[in-house]
Amino acid sequence: MPGLQIDNLHVRAGEQEILRGVDLSVAPGEIHALMGPNGSGKSTLANAIMGHPNFEVTEGHISLDEREITEIDPDERSRAGLFMAFQYPVAVPGVSVTRYLRTVLNAHREGRGEEAISLKDFRRDAESAMELCEVPREFSQRYLNDGFSGGEKKRMEILQLALMRPRIAILDETDSGLDIDALRVVANGVNSVAGPSMGLLIITHYQRILHIVRPDFVHVLYKGRIVKEGGPELVDQLEAKGYGWITDELAAA
Ligand SMILES: Nc1ncnc2c1ncn2[C@@H]1O[C@H](COP(=O)(O)OP(=O)(O)OP(=O)(O)O)[C@@H](O)[C@H]1O
Ligand SMILES: [Mg+2]
Repeated sequence: MPGLQIDNLHVRAGEQEILRGVDLSVAPGEIHALMGPNGSGKSTLANAIMGHPNFEVTEGHISLDEREITEIDPDERSRAGLFMAFQYPVAVPGVSVTRYLRTVLNAHREGRGEEAISLKDFRRDAESAMELCEVPREFSQRYLNDGFSGGEKKRMEILQLALMRPRIAILDETDSGLDIDALRVVANGVNSVAGPSMGLLIITHYQRILHIVRPDFVHVLYKGRIVKEGGPELVDQLEAKGYGWITDELAAA
């Protein structure tokens, strides 16, 4: 199956097994939401998909477009078309936003066997992406995430997403800490880059973003396992009732 496929994934961090058999598929063109209480393993899953070295896959498989990627390094995953916006983005002092974006973009193009983008084309694409994400022009000369406010960092991530057009994008709490206008900008940005050739996995605690970016599928992670799946109606149920009823269902089963 094209897209992202996760089979029976078990992941350990330190001494602890955090994911205990996760199955999840995200096909191009689909929008999936991953929800679940604090500490259930959502960021761990995202990090394991990206190949973060702190997380060890002890069992199971991850594949992208039918290519097994469980063991390959993060750079190569990114060039293969995986993109992740982090819950806590890091600052890169000394590297300007435009230089960073152009370097990453060219690494991706190289990965696809394409030529480096010309400066002229890059400027044009970057400008339209910046307009789309409502990122102020002067940001391009600043150092990446250095002194950016929380909301500005999130917009930067959507800007990257708009430029990279990955195969699968994972957004880990891209909506956290955003005021209502910034949330709308970010969510509209996500909607305008989403399309038939990109799959999206949105990790969030809130229905706000999911009312603008409508998910096709919703998964609930609890103690390292997906315990409930459904359509967008599940988001409203969770918002209204919390997670207690799901754990009650589990206990009764
Ligand atoms: N590097 C690590 N070493 C040890 N334990 C870790 C490590 N990273 C995460 N954990 C633990 O794994 C569990 C799941 O954490 P994770 O960050 O995946 O949760 P989450 O679902 O993203 O939570 P939140 O909603 O708060 O973001 C937590 O108990 C956390 O303390
Ligand atoms: Mg998290």
